[in-house]
Amino acid sequence: MLEVKQLRALYGDSLVLHGIDLKIAPSERVAVIGRNGAGKSTLLKSIMGGGPAAHGVLQWNGADLHRLKGFERTRLGLSLVPEDRRIFPHLTVVENLEIARHATAKGKTPASPEAMIRFFPMLETLKARFGNQLSGGQQQLLAVARGLLPMPKLLLLDEPTEGLAPIIVEQMAKSINAICDEHRVALLLSEQNLWFARQCTHALHVLDTGRIVFSGTWDEFDAYPEVRNRHLAV
Ligand SMILES: Nc1ncnc2c1ncn2[C@@H]1O[C@H](COP(=O)(O)OP(=O)(O)OP(=O)(O)O)[C@@H](O)[C@H]1O
Ligand SMILES: [Mg+2]
Repeated sequence: MLEVKQLRALYGDSLVLHGIDLKIAPSERVAVIGRNGAGKSTLLKSIMGGGPAAHGVLQWNGADLHRLKGFERTRLGLSLVPEDRRIFPHLTVVENLEIARHATAKGKTPASPEAMIRFFPMLETLKARFGNQLSGGQQQLLAVARGLLPMPKLLLLDEPTEGLAPIIVEQMAKSINAICDEHRVALLLSEQNLWFARQCTHALHVLDTGRIVFSGTWDEFDAYPEVRNRHLAV
């Protein structure tokens, strides 16, 4: 359903993705792992639109994504939770969730804010708070819940655990897995936290300076420790 072939992305003259190949089948969950600056966010932004100039095959159920604007990609069932979260500061938690109904794909039924809060119990006591009254970690949970509320066909999640306490990371993995299992949401997860990525996905791609240098299951990744040493260690 998502097919990316020889994807190149440029900021001005500078080539940042050097020919990425990947596929994601319906309800498949895959991680993209890589150091700071490897190109993870650029890859997600290229798929969702609104990022740098992108060239190469970018197809969603056979439709050419290059021809579609961001909101049209949303309507086909793609959802991106960006690095910078974009929580509305003057809306409450419930209102921030509510607004995501508008991002529901044709033929999909969005969850209610209350249903999403049941999946993310740490939001329960924060329901009436404004966005600007939440901690960074609470905003991250809210952003993930908001990205999932429309029940997208594919969720693109950009480093959701950055800076989070281990207990929240664990909760977030449980919530994401529960929703993706129940609603057959496919996931492309950008991460540096290997523990979290492993909880949420069955396979991974390792990105190093804009190139995929390893693709496989987590067991295969474990069998080649040199991948980790060479491409992920800092
Ligand atoms: N708006 C931009 N203009 C120019 N270069 C950019 C821009 N955004 C990112 N880059 C460059 O593109 C490369 C890939 O950046 P990207 O943000 O995709 O990496 P990342 O893997 O998401 O890193 P991080 O883990 O730090 O979020 C980096 O070298 C970065 O400096
Ligand atoms: Mg990034």
